[in-house]
Order: sequence, then C-alpha cells, then structure tokens
Amino acid sequence: MSAIVNNPASSTRRGAASSSSTAGEVNWAELRKDFPILDQKIHGKPLIYFDNAATSQKPQAVLDALRHYYERDNANVHRGIHELSNRATAAYEAARARTAQFIHARSPEEIVFTRGTTEAINLVAHSWGMANLKSGDVILLTEMEHHSNLVPWQLIAQRTGARVVYVPLRSDENVLDLDRIDALLAGNVKFFSMVHISNSLGTVNPVADLCARARKRGIVTLVDGAQSAGHMPVDVQAIGCDFFAFSGHKICGPTGIGVLYGRQDLLDAMPPYQGGGEMILSVAYDHTEFKKAPHRFEAGTPDISGPVGLHAAMDYLDRIGRDRIWKHDQELAAYAQERLSALNGVRLFGPKTGRAGVVSFLLKDVHAHDVVMLADQAGIALRGGHHCTQPLMHKLGVESTARASFYFYNTREEVDRLVEVIREIQKFFAV
Ligand code: ALA
Repeated sequence: MSAIVNNPASSTRRGAASSSSTAGEVNWAELRKDFPILDQKIHGKPLIYFDNAATSQKPQAVLDALRHYYERDNANVHRGIHELSNRATAAYEAARARTAQFIHARSPEEIVFTRGTTEAINLVAHSWGMANLKSGDVILLTEMEHHSNLVPWQLIAQRTGARVVYVPLRSDENVLDLDRIDALLAGNVKFFSMVHISNSLGTVNPVADLCARARKRGIVTLVDGAQSAGHMPVDVQAIGCDFFAFSGHKICGPTGIGVLYGRQDLLDAMPPYQGGGEMILSVAYDHTEFKKAPHRFEAGTPDISGPVGLHAAMDYLDRIGRDRIWKHDQELAAYAQERLSALNGVRLFGPKTGRAGVVSFLLKDVHAHDVVMLADQAGIALRGGHHCTQPLMHKLGVESTARASFYFYNTREEVDRLVEVIREIQKFFAV
C-alpha cells in the first residue's frame, strides 16, 4: 500500500499508495508515484497537471485492474454460462455494488452504468422528462450549469412544451442567490437539476438544502456530481436527491464509464431510454417485456472494463479518504486564490471562501488561450475557454477564462510554480 495510510482493505494491485507516512496522515508527494503519467517532462519542464476538472490521471492500481481484466477475465456479461463470462459478470456487478456503497445508495439496483455524466443526465431527461413533463411545467436549473445539464433540458422542453427557468447567481460572490429559491420553486416547477460543484467557478452548492426545499413541494431533483464525486464524501441519502450523476474518468477511473444513481421507485417507473439486447425479459415480433432497473437502462453490451477500472479507482480513493482529499483540494485552491489575488492585473472568478479545487482567472489584456499556451510551454496543463458553460461566461461578461483545477496529487510547490509562470506571462505581454 502506499502513501495512503490506515487501510488494511483491498486488492493486491495497489501501487505506491503504500509507502507512506504516519498513521492517519497522507504523504501527498509520495502518492504521486502511483501515477506514472506525472513522471515526465513537457517541453523540457516537469509536468504540472492542473486540468483535473476536465479529467483526472489514473493510478497504477487502476491501470493494473484494467490490464488484469483483459488478460484474465474478458468476456461478455449476463449471457454466458462459461467461466470467463461468469467472471466478467461478477466483476461488473461487484462494481455496481461498490458504486452503491461509494455514494451510499440504498442498493445496487439504484445504480445505472452510463458512458458518463452527460449520458446519465440525458437518460433522465429523455426517460423521466418525456414521461412526466408537459406544457406549462417548469424545469428549474441554475445559471452555473455545465452544458451537459442544460442542453438536454432545453431539448426536452422543446419537445414537451415545458419551460426552463434558472436560479440566478449573486454577482458579487458567484454563488446562487438563495433568497430567490423558494419563490422560484413555487412556480409550477416539476424538476430541479443542479450542479454540485461548478466546473468554472469552484462554487460548492448547498445541494442538501436545495433538495430538501424541492422535496417539500414534491419536485424531483437531480444533482450533477461530475466535480464532486471523488473529491469529497458523497452520500446521496444525506443529500436527499432523487438522481445523482458522475463520471469515472474524473475520479481516477477510465473514460467511457459513468454512473446514474436513481431512487429505486423512480427508476422502476421510468420507461427504457434505449432498446436492444440485455435490457429485455422477452421479445416477440409485436411486444417486448423489459427487465427491471437498472438493467432496463443498459441496452447492448455495456462497457465492462470501465466498471472494473472504476471499482479500482473507488477503492484507491477510499484508501486515501475522500474527507482528506476534499481538505487537500480546498487548501490548495485557497492557497492558489491567495497567491494569484496578490498579483496585479489578475481577475479571479468564483466565491471568495469555501471553494472547491477550481480556480478560474483572467490576466488583464491577455487572452485566456495565450495564458494556457504559454503555461504549457512551462510544462503546466491548464484549461482555457468557456468550460462548457457559455451562458455563465456571458453572464460574467467574458468569453473565456483560464482555469487551474486540482486533485490530491497536486502540491503547493506546483501552485508556486504556476504563480511564477503567470508573472513571466505578465512581463512578456507588458513589453
Ligand atoms: N467538464 C469538463 C471541464 O470542465 C470537460 O473541463
């Protein structure tokens, strides 16, 4: 085991999360050794990976699990009676049970595997939305939604005649204007979909409070957990949401696997999203009987290695401890915020306190893409653009921002290096 501590559980393929420290503490620098990709130079400089909101890197334990699956267990699931198919099915369903435990769902039947957060939200929009929304209904979103939690609802609104309404931001703090919530919820709202952590601002929304207010009025809720799962402890029962969506690749797992949590009674009442093999009980030329949830929503051969890798990623994160990861993310973000705000000509976005590990900024008279390109020359991976939140950018009066987003393998020294490079960029453009 590794730089991670105190964790007797888990597989033999663990990686460095083993060479660690004092009981109860994490040696963050040592943990980096679990990530082979981080040990390289980019343009001759040590890689500093600050694009974790886009995707995270993968520890050796996940790479090993994927390799083991393909080398030893690969077969199709749920339909074979041979040994390999049994193993693949067992691994796939074990990942579902582990996912239920990871977010404290009541049972594995509440976990649907999808391609990612986007597909999970589209599933709810198309299945629940088309079955339950009608003309005059309101779908409530927030002004800080990612396109993945906005465009699907616009599409469903067009098809059902429902309207999309947005909870506004308080412009001074880049947080939701909670004074407006109850009045908005009173307005014929049938569905309230909200981002847990803004990928552009780092704002952490009070989702448990928002879901409680919605529930009192019988409004169905979805939380987009793309930036929160894997960064903080998540308990869907404590949040009290009806649906929760997240992606494997942002939490050290592979790309192409995502999760939709749905309350059992809602999933059971929802029509299939896609049709095909695996999701049926019986098919005749004129009629099909569908399986119960979650299999009803997993048509065709699913991504099998994805859940296997995701399982390894969840084990890995829990060996570190998501409460520790959350504290580390927040400390790094606060440090970056403090260092960057001390520079002249830097505009910072997002809340002044309590942000997640996301820091968006602009340099006066320098385009965000120039910042990102010059940072890349210094070995630092940032992201520049609208971050799939174009309406939010317009609301903030900008086209794009540069963004540094952190995970547990990032360090204060890397933030110091970023600040140094920002100073160099400012000097370069001042000439
Ligand atoms: N949603 C991802 C990001 O914020 C792609 O970068």
